[in-house]
Formats: sequence, structure tokens, C-alpha cells
Amino acid sequence: MPRTVLVTGAESGIGAACAVAFGAEGDRVAIGYYADEDAARVSAAAVVAAGGDAMIVQCHVDSEQSVDQAFIAIEERWGTVSVLVNSAGRNMSGVLVRDMALPQWENLLSTDLTGAFLTSRRFLRARGAGSAPAAIIHISSIHAYAVRAGGADYCAAKGGLSRLVETLAIEEAPNGVRVNAIAPGMILTPMNAHAETDATYRRSLERNIPLGRAGTADEVADLAVFLASTKANYITGAQMVIDGGLSLMRGLGA
Ligand SMILES: NC(=O)c1ccc[n+]([C@@H]2O[C@H](COP(=O)([O-])OP(=O)(O)OC[C@H]3O[C@@H](n4cnc5c(N)ncnc54)[C@H](O)[C@@H]3O)[C@@H](O)[C@H]2O)c1
Repeated sequence: MPRTVLVTGAESGIGAACAVAFGAEGDRVAIGYYADEDAARVSAAAVVAAGGDAMIVQCHVDSEQSVDQAFIAIEERWGTVSVLVNSAGRNMSGVLVRDMALPQWENLLSTDLTGAFLTSRRFLRARGAGSAPAAIIHISSIHAYAVRAGGADYCAAKGGLSRLVETLAIEEAPNGVRVNAIAPGMILTPMNAHAETDATYRRSLERNIPLGRAGTADEVADLAVFLASTKANYITGAQMVIDGGLSLMRGLGA
């Protein structure tokens, strides 16, 4: 029985890989995109090629109205969404707190934290009594717990996301909804464009990763598919780290 899946940020990177991975499971996948409709169509074609069904839907996760309209469009076509993968996000600014303008802080928080709140809430409100089991997966980051100078906006958003996921997990467990986060380390996507295109720079970063390389979006997508599956039926409120061991290296220099 195909599931109805919404992936946000699905026109790029980890979101696009997740969409294709759910397509390969035979699911109906809504490609939630921000602005690049052409890229969303490419993701949709890849989902179909993988064996799934696809539609594209604009979904600005930081807008209550946009999130609502996206869910309505999916519900009209396929019915209630039973898997939400929220991958939409912006990268850290690299600006120290003392220099950070308020709009920078607010933009990051509104996407990476409020976006998770708005998409989760709309997902949950569509479910009636006796709804089938369902899963929410938010793409967080190892920066939820491993801070970096210049990343206060991002680290605060992802750190807050951890607490949101845990709270949702206990609130929704009685309703059959499992809520988990995935915390990737360095993954080669457009968010890491510099590392994707500059091999010397990439190798300088990969030296810090025990497994010796950056991860791929497909590897993150495999974890999302697992977390949404019945094989993960007893997992909720977890933050699954996928970083090649990178965040274990914090003791260096101690
Ligand atoms: N790439 C990495 O190394 C890495 C590491 C840890 C965590 N992550 C997280 O993974 C997620 C996906 O990142 P990615 O690497 O695929 O980057 P990406 O830039 O390829 O994809 C992010 C997508 O989010 C979309 N987006 C941005 N703001 C949005 C908004 N307000 N509403 C809807 N969509 C919006 C962008 O248009 C883009 O398509 C992010 O949450 C990111 O923080 C990435």
C-alpha cells in the first residue's frame, strides 16, 4: 500500500534524495519546494523513474498559509499525508553574534525551527481519531549539539529542533505518530557547494572525519526511509546521528 509522503526542501540535496528513496519504495511523494519549480520537476521525474508517484507543491515552511495550502493540495489529490520529511533549511550565516543583524537571526529560526513547528502541526491536525500510524522526520544537524563560532543562528535553531522533536514524540506517541530527527554531519549537497566543487578544501575537512569522507544525500535518505518504516516501530524522539564519526572528535585538543 503506497504511503503519501511530503518532503520539504525536496528540490535539492538531502530532500531530493529522500523523495527519490521514498519513490523507490513505491510511495506517492509530494515534492515541497521553495522557489525553483524547474528543480522540483526534476525531483518529481526522478521519483517516478524510481517507481513512485509524484506531484510538486510550493511549500514555504516559514509561512503558515503556504504550509496549509501545500497540505490541502496533497490531500485533494492523495488524501492524508502519513509521512512528513522536513528537509527545508538554510545554512549558518558565519556571522558572530556581536555582528549579527536581527533579520539574519529571524530568517534562520523561522525556517529551521518554526518551519518544523508549522509543518508538524499541520500534519498532525489532518489526522482524525483512529488514523493509521504515521511518522515525522526532521532533518537536523550535528550542530544541534556541537556548536561552531559564526553558527549561533543555525545551532540555536537545530538545538531547539531537538527539544521540539522530543516534545512532539511524547505528545504524539499515544496517537500513533513517531517523531524523530536525523542529525547529519558533512554531506555533499548544494549547502556544501564549496566542498562539492573544491577537492582540496573538501579533503581538508574530511581529515577530521573518522570514516575519512563526507557523506552523501543518498545515505541520509536511506536512514529517513528506515525511520519511516515498520522496522523502526519502536523508535521515537531519537536524534539519529549520521556523520562518519565526525562529532566524536570533539575531545581533540582537550
Ligand atoms: N549538507 C549538509 O552537510 C547538512 C549537514 C547537516 C544538516 N543539514 C540539513 O539538511 C537539510 C537539507 O539541507 P541540504 O544539504 O539538502 O541543503 P540544500 O540547500 O541542498 O537544500 C535545502 C532546501 O531547502 C529549501 N528552503 C530554504 N528555505 C526554505 C523555506 N523557508 N521553505 C521551504 N524550503 C526552503 C531550499 O530552497 C533548498 O532547496 C537542512 O535542514 C540542513 O540544515 C545539511
